[in-house]
Amino acid sequence: MMNVRNLFLVRVTQCMVTLIVAGAVTASSAQEMDELWGSRVVKMRADNAERGQLFDEGNYAMFIHWGLYSQLGNRVNGKTYYGIGEWIMNRRMANIPVDQYKELAGTFNPVNFDAKEIVQLAKDAGMKYIVITSKHHDGFAMYHSKACDFNIVDSTPWKTDPMKELSAACQEAGLGFGFYYSHNQDWSFPGGGGGPRVNADGTPATFDDYFVNKCLPQVEEITTEYGPIEIVWFDTPGKMPKEYVEKLVEVVHKNQPGALVSGRAGHNLGDYQTLGDMEVPLSNVDGMWESVDTTNDSWAYAWYDEYWKSPQEILRRLVACVGRGGTYMLNIGPRGDGAVPERAARSLREAGEWIRRYPQVVYGTDASPWQHSLPWGDVVSKGNQLFLTVMEWPTSGELYLPGLKSTVGSAQLLSGDERTPLEHETRNGWTVIKVPARAPEKLASVIEVNLNGQPDVDPSFAVDPNLGVEIHAEFASVAQASKSEKRWMEKFGEWKGTVHVHDWKAEGRASFEVEVLEPGDYNVSLSYAGEGRLVWGVTIEDGEHIQNQQNSSHNYQEFPIGWMNFPEPGKYTLNVSCLEGNLDSASLKTIRIEPIH
Ligand code: GLC
Repeated sequence: MMNVRNLFLVRVTQCMVTLIVAGAVTASSAQEMDELWGSRVVKMRADNAERGQLFDEGNYAMFIHWGLYSQLGNRVNGKTYYGIGEWIMNRRMANIPVDQYKELAGTFNPVNFDAKEIVQLAKDAGMKYIVITSKHHDGFAMYHSKACDFNIVDSTPWKTDPMKELSAACQEAGLGFGFYYSHNQDWSFPGGGGGPRVNADGTPATFDDYFVNKCLPQVEEITTEYGPIEIVWFDTPGKMPKEYVEKLVEVVHKNQPGALVSGRAGHNLGDYQTLGDMEVPLSNVDGMWESVDTTNDSWAYAWYDEYWKSPQEILRRLVACVGRGGTYMLNIGPRGDGAVPERAARSLREAGEWIRRYPQVVYGTDASPWQHSLPWGDVVSKGNQLFLTVMEWPTSGELYLPGLKSTVGSAQLLSGDERTPLEHETRNGWTVIKVPARAPEKLASVIEVNLNGQPDVDPSFAVDPNLGVEIHAEFASVAQASKSEKRWMEKFGEWKGTVHVHDWKAEGRASFEVEVLEPGDYNVSLSYAGEGRLVWGVTIEDGEHIQNQQNSSHNYQEFPIGWMNFPEPGKYTLNVSCLEGNLDSASLKTIRIEPIH
């Protein structure tokens, strides 16, 4: 039986609506970008048992975007273009003519590229394989291609094939190795997706020309000349005809029986599902899938982008991804000289040190039986064991696990190899674990819970007595209103997304189920976007009703609605309604219920 999110996603993907909030990036370009990725389907592990062990059990990998565009770092003729740097050539960014762009090869000389150092960084980070751009949308091959001389050996003064060094270094270090390959888009080869429409001699160029003369031979090259390949990561299939994708998948599986084809091959022919850029889901996703994320907000190196993910943020997104049942591939964008930005490397290494102390949280684990994160952190499972990764340490000395129906055999606080037994009890159906006042770890602390049998959990959201709870609209049931996913780009290619409740009718409501342990007053807030002042009402079914008027804007912001009383422990239904104001503009994202300290 497909779980709620997948059912919901399949339906929504089929009719995805992309709304734009930020200025420059037009609605159409976000929608175009979204459609370029093609549809998504659930792929179960069984489908390809002979492939993808490292993917399925390693759960953490390095993505590398490196190319001619890295030299520019988003700056052309002194002007900075904001957004994903690998698109700098494109009309949505600096719109550099093909001939002018090709001249960049003449100055590409990455003397600071060090394959062993990059592989060591991935290893130190706790990553199990590397996937690097062999050819991106610009059409430049970052390996020695015989099919096209617009490549790093034939066209640059550096005349070196970095992929030979990197694949060898990965093998030596026991890491998997794979290639990103832009199979549809090629902005510099006649006939390529988004590329020139005529050949050099002025004759019309077709996609078939590009496919036969460049794409197919290059996929043959990258799957036969660089040793064992873990993944071939095709991207942005757009409207690429099915027979071409079938041919490429066949070539990959023939030349590399152990290799996976990414979820963005097109026509659902990939071996697993690839979510949208920078998307880490809020609820469990079935089957084999990956989140692709980046250490700042751009895949390729962008000189201005110093907004790096901290070690804790990396762990939060990694554990959330693994807790939802997926694999996390995190990107670095080396500079034009081949060096890895220091701050990215530092965050990766520090998160890696933590993973070395708690490998059981990342490797070979299964999703959380709660199917979503918990207020203090997240959970992964392995048989009848649960590993709680606590980011918000409870100063009250009590950590709360709601809805756990299985009985707890034992609970231990892990500190590296040390294990401290923890007392635990059940209270109104909640499991309460007694913890020391101070967290053993700076970034996140781990508690191992051994159950007497397989995990059996009621995944209902619950108001943590210490931290309260934030519930996203994705988990609401709605009436006389709509619920759908929307995605937008803050900067070009920097994706954000949320499920929201919108199209509110006068009687419209979004209902959230919550479990309360400690009765009393709690502060209720809503995060939403809209236009002008809006009046929101929150009603506890068969209980208190409050309402309040707050302002709104096109950015999601959280506003307090007021205190509400939950008279006794138990389950409650909270109904949220938009009562007055521009209801058409009202877009609800979350409800938060917090204890009053
Ligand atoms: C998108 C971008 C592409 C990037 C990829 C990474 O498809 O177009 O530039 O390489 O996402 O996931």
